[in-house]
Amino acid sequence: MINLIVNDQIREFDLPLGTSLVDVIRDNLKLPGTKIGCREGDCGACTVLVGELDGENLKYKSMASCILPLGNTRRKHIVTIEGLNLDGLTPIQKAFVEENGTQCGFCTPGFIMSVVGFCLSDKKKTFENIKIAVAGNICRCTGYKSIERALSIIVDGISKIDETDRIAWLADNGFIPAYFNGIKNKLKEMAVDYSPKRTDADYIMGGGTDLLVQELDEVEEATIDFIQEMPGLSGVRIENGKCFIGSTTTITELFESEALNKMFPKMRSYINLIASHQIRNMATVGGNFANGSPIGDLAIMFQALDGTLVLNEKGKKREIKLKDFFVGYKTVNKKPDELIECVYFNVPGENTHFSFEKIGKRIHLDMATVNSALVVEIKDGIIKAASYSVGGLGATIRNMEKTSGFLVGKKISNKTFIEANKVAQSEITPRSRPEYKRLLVKQQLLCHLMSFAPEALGLEALQ
Ligand SMILES: Cc1cc2nc3c(=O)[nH]c(=O)nc-3n(C[C@H](O)[C@H](O)[C@H](O)COP(=O)(O)OP(=O)(O)OC[C@H]3O[C@@H](n4cnc5c(N)ncnc54)[C@H](O)[C@@H]3O)c2cc1C
Ligand code: FES
Ligand code: FES
Repeated sequence: MINLIVNDQIREFDLPLGTSLVDVIRDNLKLPGTKIGCREGDCGACTVLVGELDGENLKYKSMASCILPLGNTRRKHIVTIEGLNLDGLTPIQKAFVEENGTQCGFCTPGFIMSVVGFCLSDKKKTFENIKIAVAGNICRCTGYKSIERALSIIVDGISKIDETDRIAWLADNGFIPAYFNGIKNKLKEMAVDYSPKRTDADYIMGGGTDLLVQELDEVEEATIDFIQEMPGLSGVRIENGKCFIGSTTTITELFESEALNKMFPKMRSYINLIASHQIRNMATVGGNFANGSPIGDLAIMFQALDGTLVLNEKGKKREIKLKDFFVGYKTVNKKPDELIECVYFNVPGENTHFSFEKIGKRIHLDMATVNSALVVEIKDGIIKAASYSVGGLGATIRNMEKTSGFLVGKKISNKTFIEANKVAQSEITPRSRPEYKRLLVKQQLLCHLMSFAPEALGLEALQ
């Protein structure tokens, strides 16, 4: 049995906890406004808002309900399109109608939910940010220009939002119904002391963004440990010169982490290249490692940072370097019931620099064709240490040992880049589209070095 709030009603469900939320919404609750397009997290048609208490704050995040397991919604507030316009169309919906931002209408509920999620968020209310908020929503009819016009009107409409009490301001101004004001207390009343423990369940479930795409039918039948509610597995903390990141920390929480962004000032721009808001709000760090993908963006980053995983099998702990964890295509050095507790790495010193590059077919919501990360320590203009990882070239992430070794002792220059690229090309054997991927490795290596010493590299490097 699981209880949650859907729109303005508390609901209880006696259903398998691996059931995807969109099926509960449409089939059990008969709320058909939430649409199913791809069922893989790609189109945004099924977007809902998920509200959760964070201390005294009630925070809402947009999520793809097609890959959100029911078990991850316990004592949360789920908002569907039906829960928004109890008294007619909201200013957000009106802007879409007036600017012809909706034609067949199939994508529209998803867009509206993403926009409401943006209004409720602490993001700066700019046109650029509202566009990023809908990057996970696809429309086949409008060509997007009319949607952009609607977004522009909406951003103007919320320019005077009271950031100290967004829910009250949005309710007062008709953007959300008044019942939102009472949700925080309802959720508090529903809260109980609940901290699940590991069992012999068939599955470990993080955010579900891989499992519900790859194995939805199996998951629905299975027993599952929902680890997001297990204590001690979430968050970023610095201790004794090391940075520890709990395995259930979501990609959005990495984006929001002050500590991480202080260490790596460009981290937010890198994270914006991963999936979409809806997916980043669900996907966890541990899931990104455990799925063993050769193009996992976090896996690439933390491998270059020489990250170590802490694994726990029924209380028996062991540690393994990420570079030894990936052993074959989607195969990792981990027993099925071993839980990844966290990843940790040394806090970089002031001379250490980190760079990440990703190229896919489009900027947002695409897996990498090639992605790479380079970490260097530079003292007096000379590279003292280097660690370089590249994905998308074969079954596992490449640990570019030779290129890293070559870079040590060098000054960043055109010559260093040209020679380092030769070494890099010698230690890769791209399986598919080899010429294209070799070119991407070269371009990304140049971008990494340029990000560390822009003045040291010129056009000659590209000869
Ligand atoms: C539309 C879409 C876009 C995506 N885009 C990107 C992208 O741009 N870049 C990218 O890197 N990935 C992307 N992904 C892949 C995925 O979202 C990430 O890999 C994510 O981090 C997986 O985390 P999760 O918690 O959702 O995993 P889950 O689906 O919960 O789990 C995945 C696997 O890991 C296991 N697992 C999870 N947590 C643990 C743990 N703590 N210990 C042991 N085992 C565990 C599960 O049992 C399962 O086998 C995308 C996915 C979708 C659906
Ligand atoms: S149906 Fe496409 S993202 Fe859920
Ligand atoms: S209006 Fe038809 S898919 Fe967007």
